[in-house]
Amino acid sequence: MRNTPLIIGAVAAALSLVIGAVLVTRFHAPEPPQQAASSGTVTSQAEEDGVTLGGPFNLETTGGARFTDADLAGKPYAIFFGFTYCPDVCPTTLNDLAGWMDELGPQAGALRYVFVTVDPERDDIETMTRYARAFSERIIPLTGTPEEIEAILDAYKIYAAKVPLEDGDYTMNHTAAIYLMGADGGFADVISYKDEAETAVRKLRALADAAPVS
Ligand code: NI
Repeated sequence: MRNTPLIIGAVAAALSLVIGAVLVTRFHAPEPPQQAASSGTVTSQAEEDGVTLGGPFNLETTGGARFTDADLAGKPYAIFFGFTYCPDVCPTTLNDLAGWMDELGPQAGALRYVFVTVDPERDDIETMTRYARAFSERIIPLTGTPEEIEAILDAYKIYAAKVPLEDGDYTMNHTAAIYLMGADGGFADVISYKDEAETAVRKLRALADAAPVS
């Protein structure tokens, strides 16, 4: 498709309107995103209300227990979307995140850390749990049915799409930013893939500082 640059341009503009100048997304594969048609409505709402991210979800966590947005209420959290077959960005990001937690020290406990799959067909909860624990026991793994995952991707304005590989397998393009959400579940900040460790730790510390004292 030779006209994709135009589409990408429109998509990039729409996305940046939605999320604002702070958000930098990175997509894994060189093939650019073909965005969903919902950007227009999202944009107009974002223009009215400012950044709106997050919302209700109902997913599966370790041991097969259900885990919903209510389980995150009252404490700030960092949420990242990816998949266990990811060759580079996801393992790098989760490894970095675990290192930043170490730098936060005791303050790391003021936050929660959530890893949601964008590839529910391959990432069952056992796979997700094993993967998350390889980086940190603190990371909460979440998966669900394709419909349940679609709902949380919509809520958090996460782009994710399958990219077929030559061997018949597939990989995923997906938004690679970590969203930082306040104790009220509202969007607070974002750590982009390009942020230096110092910046990322400062943002996490600010989120922890703003946490209600329990
Ligand atoms: Ni990834």
